[in-house]
Amino acid sequence: MSDTPEPTLMICTHRRLGAAGSCGAGGGEALSDALRRDLAARGLGWNVTEIGCLGHCLHGPNVKAAPNGPLLHHCSAEHSDALIERLLAEWPKSEGMKD
Ligand code: FES
Repeated sequence: MSDTPEPTLMICTHRRLGAAGSCGAGGGEALSDALRRDLAARGLGWNVTEIGCLGHCLHGPNVKAAPNGPLLHHCSAEHSDALIERLLAEWPKSEGMKD
């Protein structure tokens, strides 16, 4: 069994009722589905998990990459593959992350 952390994308799908904006209302669930689809198409075994509020509601949908990855704002299902491409190019892989 490996003790290296699996790459994980945490997608905010929280809906803030009555608020000015939220990731759920902005397409967070569709983004989560698109990321699962596009990661599978690339053969990447990253985890995708839907989570609650990341505290940047007006800039969503938001995605947090872990471990030690960026917090990305204004993400969309339409640009899911570009998001993955950006992470592959920019996400540090020197801290124990699997390829
Ligand atoms: S609703 Fe997504 S960061 Fe708050």
